[in-house]
Amino acid sequence: MLAKNIGINEKGHLTFAGADTVDLAKEYGTPLYLVDKNGIIDRAREYMSAAETYLGAGSHPCYAGKALCYTDLYRTLEDIGMWIDVVSPGEFYTAKKAGFDLSRAMFHGNNKTDDDLKMALSMGVGRIVCDSADEIEALDQIAGELEKKPKILIRLTPGIDPHTHKSINTGTVDSKFGVAIETGDAKKLVAKTLEKKNIELMGYHCHIGSQIFECEPFCEAAEKMLTFMADMKKKLEFEAKEINLGGGMAVPYLESDKKISYTENIKAVGVCIDALLEKLSLNRPVFYLEPGRSIVADSGMTLYTVGTVKCIEGYKNYVSVDGGMTDNPRFALYQSPYTLINASHADIAPDFTATVGGRCCESGDLIQENVNLVRPVRGDTLAVLTTGAYNFSMSSNYNRLTRPALVTLFNGESYVAVKRQTFEDMTALDI
Ligand code: LLP
Repeated sequence: MLAKNIGINEKGHLTFAGADTVDLAKEYGTPLYLVDKNGIIDRAREYMSAAETYLGAGSHPCYAGKALCYTDLYRTLEDIGMWIDVVSPGEFYTAKKAGFDLSRAMFHGNNKTDDDLKMALSMGVGRIVCDSADEIEALDQIAGELEKKPKILIRLTPGIDPHTHKSINTGTVDSKFGVAIETGDAKKLVAKTLEKKNIELMGYHCHIGSQIFECEPFCEAAEKMLTFMADMKKKLEFEAKEINLGGGMAVPYLESDKKISYTENIKAVGVCIDALLEKLSLNRPVFYLEPGRSIVADSGMTLYTVGTVKCIEGYKNYVSVDGGMTDNPRFALYQSPYTLINASHADIAPDFTATVGGRCCESGDLIQENVNLVRPVRGDTLAVLTTGAYNFSMSSNYNRLTRPALVTLFNGESYVAVKRQTFEDMTALDI
């Protein structure tokens, strides 16, 4: 099985975190997002311990909430002392609502508004990752008005192409994010920032992309960042105290995907860092990582109920489900692969090849093409695995479909962490 939280019970039903998925579909309705809370806690702790062990004391991961964000998740992250990466006021508002201590939050974004910055400062967000010269000017002024002195990192584009999908590749010089080292803009901005009275520069950030299997791109990024740090030490007498290497470690979505050990990857990056610090004669900064996908993806699953099964003789078979691109837009956007299982008959070998589509009025509304399934009939439960990241957080109300509920599985119990949206909820803001 793709992950250790997936199994098959004596009824032949697919199980997730020990629970019968067909029973869950009946109890809570479909489409339904499931989240294995122990899976998230274990992965978060793995990252925390590997960062501390291999990147140095005080180093830690900041969970990137853009992958999955709701109040109850932040309660869990607060309980275990995790840091977080937030990318909008909506994300840090959600965390605050959960009682999360925002001094452990890093605020990102290539176009933070003045209101965003004011809100972040008044709510005590711990680090602002500044993306541009304009933002530094605005922040310095706002901080002065509010009599605050925020700690910031500057986001740099290290000029690395990690060969991932173009929409999720963010570290190249022509990126919309950050300031480039290569063009000299980064150095100019550091010099300018050091003159600001109301800002404390802590160091630098980069994020090279997402769904990256190899460690080499992370080592290359570390080299670019530490070389830049050494250069600023020499030229501007500023030695950074913090370096954030971003997120991006991959997750296997298919049995055929390479398995990945986050501990081993962090250890390998740590070895590169140790050598670089020595070579460049730098004091060890605190390192941050920003994993999103790899903390939550395999702790998520989506359940659907099968509706129409249509066989077009000589062409293809379609299985339509009661959700679609509204709850998982990733195939429509990036042709992302997923593993699908007929959860009602998980003990039988697949015998049917089909394209699984949603219920939106759009041909591109597909969950996956040409998957092998046990031939489903109307009413069967269909499971899509590894949907913890970038599914719930990217969901929409297209076609006025209501958003699914999110149910947490924890120590043999299940509870609703996000309620199913009702028609009344959906129209509540319409005048
Ligand atoms: N830090 C920064 C600054 C980021 O921009 C991102 C992701 C992360 C951390 C977390 O990266 P992760 O560990 O999750 O790969 N919607 C796309 C993914 C977009 C990622 C954007 N930034 C998808 O569904 O694949």
